[in-house]
Amino acid sequence: MASPLVVILSGANLNLLGQREPEIYGSMTLDDHVALAKSAAKDAGITIEHVQSNEAGALVEAIHAARGRAKGIIINPGAFTHYAWSLHDALSAFDGVVIEAHLSQPQAREAWRHTSVIAPVADGTISGFGPQTYPLAISAMASLLKR
Ligand code: DQA
Repeated sequence: MASPLVVILSGANLNLLGQREPEIYGSMTLDDHVALAKSAAKDAGITIEHVQSNEAGALVEAIHAARGRAKGIIINPGAFTHYAWSLHDALSAFDGVVIEAHLSQPQAREAWRHTSVIAPVADGTISGFGPQTYPLAISAMASLLKR
């Protein structure tokens, strides 16, 4: 059986990981996180594609492109998490597993980060685990894909 495709989506400002507020997001770059995700995915027999954009519309397009092709999406939307209903609607129209991921723990931060418009259309959320976030998200994805 072909290995299932999972698309990892990274939203606004995540291209600056490693430089951006390292006391909150750590010193790893986005490429480092994606490499950890790919290594965990290889062990789980999952193929990964990764798309980062600072524009919500590009992520909407990437979700559309995943339709009928990918079995799952792991999305860290960055600040789009808190207001981008276009991403909510695009994910609603995606027929596969959706995992929301955050390096930090938004619930323990400013009040405006406590709302996620993604959570209602996600199967689950992994947040606050820093460098372990993506390996944990892959592990959750692998178990949900077996359902
Ligand atoms: C984030 C949390 C968001 O609130 C923030 O806007 C980000 C990163 C995280 O990974 O912890 O850009 O999604």
